[in-house]
Amino acid sequence: MARTIVNGTHVKLNDGHLMPLLGIGCWQGEHKPMSEAIVLALNNGYRLIDTAYSYMNEEAVGEAIRRWGGDRKDIFVTTKLPTIALGGGRVEPFLRKSLKKLGLDYVDLYLIHAPVGLQYVDDETVFPFDKDGKLMVDYSTNHVALWREMEAVREAGLARSIGVSNFSTAQLRRLFAVAKVPPAVNQLEMHVEFQQTEMQAYSRETGLVLTSYGTLGSPGRRARIQENSQVLDWSLSEEAMAALRTLDRGEEARSFNFLKNRGFELHPECPVNRPVL
Ligand SMILES: NC(=O)c1ccc[n+]([C@@H]2O[C@H](COP(=O)([O-])OP(=O)(O)OC[C@H]3O[C@@H](n4cnc5c(N)ncnc54)[C@H](OP(=O)(O)O)[C@@H]3O)[C@@H](O)[C@H]2O)c1
Repeated sequence: MARTIVNGTHVKLNDGHLMPLLGIGCWQGEHKPMSEAIVLALNNGYRLIDTAYSYMNEEAVGEAIRRWGGDRKDIFVTTKLPTIALGGGRVEPFLRKSLKKLGLDYVDLYLIHAPVGLQYVDDETVFPFDKDGKLMVDYSTNHVALWREMEAVREAGLARSIGVSNFSTAQLRRLFAVAKVPPAVNQLEMHVEFQQTEMQAYSRETGLVLTSYGTLGSPGRRARIQENSQVLDWSLSEEAMAALRTLDRGEEARSFNFLKNRGFELHPECPVNRPVL
């Protein structure tokens, strides 16, 4: 299924909503610098802000949006359901917590942060560890029941679009088979050495839109907000694209190890093909 790019700046999701192609991410952002970076990004034409309950900085996003002062409908805010909330009817309560922190009535996109559920201890403990340093996974994760809750928050108008993050194609096939509203987006690690070819084929087959992270390098360094705002002004030749395709090393090049260890690999929904044990 061909994806539709609108005005060279947005992609049309399978539910009809438009999502900006260029966004600013908020992972590891501390309140003041994050808030300032978002205002700078919005002033440089970025229109998508990607945060998550687990990043613990949704208040900074809300503050930046208010400081920027533009029209709410001109920006696209994504946040994510923490993995401690994949069971027990926690989707709507956690989305309402995020909305309160963001100071918004709705988010444009709500994603399930990862397919592996963790045990709920309290609202602040987003990565609960046991006394042996292993993540406390929740083996009762049921993606179909969870997706029904995601559909319900969309129906209630709390999220315009719904999707997933770090899901495998097998997990997505299961959801597409039963969904009344199929996932619009899968956000995942994807870069020149880890091209996610099977996921890309699935995306073309279904119209699922992929959002990449880790696209240009490893995390935890300074961003290049102004330089990257020009990313839509140029393109690569087909020859250059063909050369880049030869650099794919598949699963070996996955660099986000949180999916590979610390107990995630024990969960039946761990999406990594060859977990490190
Ligand atoms: N769903 C998930 O599980 C998940 C996981 C991770 C991230 N995310 C989302 O994705 C966002 C982005 O994370 P990220 O890991 O992709 O990026 P990032 O943390 O912003 O890191 C960007 C990396 O790319 C390099 N870079 C940026 N612009 C460049 C340019 N113009 N030329 C050369 N190198 C450049 C940076 O290098 P320098 O340091 O040298 O500038 C840095 O190493 C996060 O904030 C979060 O919102 C989601």
